[in-house]
Amino acid sequence: MRRKVIAGNWKMNKDFGEVEQFFVGTNGVSFCDSIRGTKNEVIICPPFIDIAQTVRFTEGSNIHVGAQNCYFEKNGAYTGETSASMLIGANVEYVIIGHSERRQYFNETNEIVSFKVNAALKVGLKPIICVGETLKERQEGVQKQVIENQVRSSLPSISDLSNVMIAYEPIWAIGTGKTATPKDANEAIKFIRSIVKDMYDNDVANDVIILYGGSVKASNAKALFEMPDIDGGLVGGASLDPIEFAEIVNFNKKQV
Ligand code: PGA
Repeated sequence: MRRKVIAGNWKMNKDFGEVEQFFVGTNGVSFCDSIRGTKNEVIICPPFIDIAQTVRFTEGSNIHVGAQNCYFEKNGAYTGETSASMLIGANVEYVIIGHSERRQYFNETNEIVSFKVNAALKVGLKPIICVGETLKERQEGVQKQVIENQVRSSLPSISDLSNVMIAYEPIWAIGTGKTATPKDANEAIKFIRSIVKDMYDNDVANDVIILYGGSVKASNAKALFEMPDIDGGLVGGASLDPIEFAEIVNFNKKQV
């Protein structure tokens, strides 16, 4: 079911004390209180080490917790890895899979992404699958092929995508301050919907949640998220600051 979703990707940021500071907030208003009235779905994806604390701070709130990665094997001798079922056991609901930083620095291929997506879905963990082109690919005019290839090879074979989200994150816009224009981001997301339609059917394509990511800030969130095909955002840098992230979450809150 389409709805607006705002997911914060903290990446490798925030130690124990900083997580507490984020949730306790300033001026006596906790982060959870500052977004309490929102109808949007809010997800926070902290580093693994901060998950338990984030689950504790968000208990009883409307915030969902996600991880930034998982491994596709269930358990065993895979030093340093965390399985999808371990995340479920830690009260994690979502997992970001195939983020461009994982693809770039940790050699995650489309095939690995697809293994992880299937492993997550198998245990009821909801994947947020990231796709997006590099600046070079965009300049060479091959961005559509790149995105199509990523979407086709990452989406699961099951036709029920109600537990799957896709995040379109053009790599040239991540952490650079360069945001895709709302029109360009909407075009790319519309294109992704057309691939989903071709892979499954019209209803699946109309229902699947597709987020935009790449330098989303409080100042540009509204213009992006009000576009018809954009269902919200995957927010990196701007999700680290509780005041700015609350402003992004509240982009469509009616003023009283
Ligand atoms: P950014 O990161 O908002 O800092 O550009 C987005 C992301 O990588 O998910």
